[in-house]
Amino acid sequence: MTATTPGSGAAPTDVTPRAPHVAGGFPARRMRRLRRSESLRRLTRETALDPADFIFPLFVSEVITEPIPISSMPGQYQWPVGAMARQAEELARLGIGATLLFGVPERKDEIGSSAWDERGPVQRAIREMKAAVPELVIVTDVCMCEYTSHGHCGLVRDGEVQNDETLELLAREALSHAEAGADIVAPSDMMDGRVAALREALDGGGFSGTPIMAYSAKFASVFYGPFREAAESAPQFGDRRAYQMDPANGREAQREIALDIQEGADIVMVKPALPYLDVLARAHDQFDLPIAAYNVSGEYAMLKAAAANGWLDERRAALEALTGIKRAGADMIITYHAIEAARWLAEG
Ligand code: PBG
Repeated sequence: MTATTPGSGAAPTDVTPRAPHVAGGFPARRMRRLRRSESLRRLTRETALDPADFIFPLFVSEVITEPIPISSMPGQYQWPVGAMARQAEELARLGIGATLLFGVPERKDEIGSSAWDERGPVQRAIREMKAAVPELVIVTDVCMCEYTSHGHCGLVRDGEVQNDETLELLAREALSHAEAGADIVAPSDMMDGRVAALREALDGGGFSGTPIMAYSAKFASVFYGPFREAAESAPQFGDRRAYQMDPANGREAQREIALDIQEGADIVMVKPALPYLDVLARAHDQFDLPIAAYNVSGEYAMLKAAAANGWLDERRAALEALTGIKRAGADMIITYHAIEAARWLAEG
């Protein structure tokens, strides 16, 4: 604590004799003063969760007539197409911002052709949900892995996922989602050039107003494990490390995001969320478009498992994790906890 005289060139944080009450350290400075009551804590809180920022993922299957629980994601189900109108109503009632749809098709083949079938599970679900709740924002996951027999995110030849040939398939899938009424398409395949390919296809098909949410910084993560049970999309050989990002690379994520923006992305995403909060914070500092974070299946499964064992209070753990994701820079959060979190927030 050094007192300074005017004009001494002291840093603005230095203490002046005119304002001894703002003197630098303890005992004058007591950080606990603003934490003494819930009202004070609420007044000075920097980050607030809002169900309007949540996006709830739903798995829709065309081979079932009753919901089937997903064992590695307690509380989550594969839903029949016929249950989707009710789902839409529930999300709207809770004020949840959007849903993200994944399809489980009856038929898989080498090129994933049911991905762009107008009678496919996602396309039918969109129509059911839009008829019930027109204002609910529907985002669709655009990828081949749920539709290909080999479970990879693109066309495979000689054991390798072919980048350029996959672009056309993704474009057809995105266009068919837009035609069915999707509000936003979200490519998650990690092929180079897919955002530009989707933009061109959408514009050419009369959907220049349909935004693209790009899974820009998507890492090759073990935390997608439970999802692959839910979407029945595990690769039948190898893994996804030749197209998804290396978890060790933060600066490369900035390049991926910059490229997607250049290609026309309207929203960019960091995925997973919790192990990649540094990537999220950097993205928020560097880019000025909306940023989504995907709080993925494995992150959800960990909390559910700990809660089931009585090791964590699930409500507090989930809300703390979501707050951390938002504080790091997410404008919106894709989370399997969306419905429960919306209820907890409403309870206050
Ligand atoms: C499709 C896709 C995946 C996820 C979202 N879209 C799986 C993967 O890339 O293997 C993961 C979502 C989650 O784990 O919750 N490519």
